[in-house]
Amino acid sequence: MPVFKAPRGTRDILPEEACYWDWVTSVSKNLCRNYGYGRIETPMFEATGLFSRGVGEGTDIVEKEMYTFEDRGGSSLTLRPEGTAPVCRAYIEHGMASLPQPVRVYYLAPAFRYERPQAGRMRQHHQFGCEVIGDASALIDAEVISLAWQFFEKLGLRKLTLKLNSIGCDKCRPGYIETLKAYYEPRIEKLCDDCAVRMKKNPLRLLDCKESACQYMADNAPRSADCLCPECLEHFNSLKGYLDLAGLEYDVTHRLVRGLDYYTRTVFEIQPESTGSQSTIGGGGRYDRLIEQIGGRPTPAIGFAAGIERIILNLKDQNVCVPGTGSARILIAHTGEEARSEAFSVYSALQCSGIGAIIGAEGKSLKAQLRQANNLDMKMVVIIGPEEMEEEAVVVRDLETGTQKKIDRRLLADALSAFRINISG
Ligand code: HAM
Repeated sequence: MPVFKAPRGTRDILPEEACYWDWVTSVSKNLCRNYGYGRIETPMFEATGLFSRGVGEGTDIVEKEMYTFEDRGGSSLTLRPEGTAPVCRAYIEHGMASLPQPVRVYYLAPAFRYERPQAGRMRQHHQFGCEVIGDASALIDAEVISLAWQFFEKLGLRKLTLKLNSIGCDKCRPGYIETLKAYYEPRIEKLCDDCAVRMKKNPLRLLDCKESACQYMADNAPRSADCLCPECLEHFNSLKGYLDLAGLEYDVTHRLVRGLDYYTRTVFEIQPESTGSQSTIGGGGRYDRLIEQIGGRPTPAIGFAAGIERIILNLKDQNVCVPGTGSARILIAHTGEEARSEAFSVYSALQCSGIGAIIGAEGKSLKAQLRQANNLDMKMVVIIGPEEMEEEAVVVRDLETGTQKKIDRRLLADALSAFRINISG
């Protein structure tokens, strides 16, 4: 028989990690409720053209990373590599322009990119994303950036940096690109092979090359923020003013351009202390032309998305203690047939009161059940044997302190609180 494994770049989410996923999803949902965002779910796959038009033909995503296939009817479909273009497609398809603007939505969804897998870089990853469609003001940019920042703060992540830039609009960006090309042209010999291609196809991307020789050139390259038209400059200055008012610190990073073609004006990323290409935990920006590019009326919009796998890596790195919501912390050990039925009654009563518990394995000695409790990292063991049956009692053992006490069975719930266990995790 062949040995099947999860496909390269994908992972199973096992029970021991589930509390991190629950934590990230519950924080994102609560936050979105407070900010007035409604949940949206789009299909796992879309017409390929949506991404080639939306994300951009010259991007790494479209050129190298899409999972594209022809279905049995001959249509070219692509597994969602990102969530923004599908949300915009849904906005157009469902006539959301007739709703009060802007429309605020969020999603929690898997995304697929054929990348070279490594820690924090998956072929299937999951994103929490927010999009605000139908408002061009810098105030909305500040709202989305604050939401993103608060999301990471509420998760318990610390030592993050907010990187901010403006890459202008259709009016001022072409001039900036010419300035950039004029700077790079005399240096073309020194560029890496990828940058030589970028120079022709997508000069903006020269700025975020990771090769050390190119980095020096990029550091000293002309800055988009110095080439903005008056409207873009005004927008960028207002945004910075709002962020200052909100007390949000940011680094204006002129090399921040992002890897998707739809961005206009504001772009931002949030990075933890560790550096490296896989360190960005969330990023986004304004995309005022995207809806028009995929067949809608010109509609301004902005959003961001965060990678849940990268968030969890950082939660673990920073030793953030996440609630193990609802997880069982008590094992009910039993010896003898009669005690087994009694253990089940105690177990049912505890579950009815919302106290998470599990029953010790059947047919095992008390010692084996205690070992099981230790292995499962339980806090408490409730022991019921023939003696306890006779006395209508239970023994409650605190596994952390090693102390134990025999108590009347009816007083069990009180006793558990007296032991001060955090039964809800
Ligand atoms: P993105 O920067 O391509 O933006 O992805 C958003 C986040 O998803 C990244 O910051 C990263 O945390 C995570 N991520 C991306 N690729 C991978 C991967 N291969 N493995 C693990 N995590 C990954 C977007 O997708 C835009 N749609 C964001 C946006 C929304 N812009 C406007 N609205």
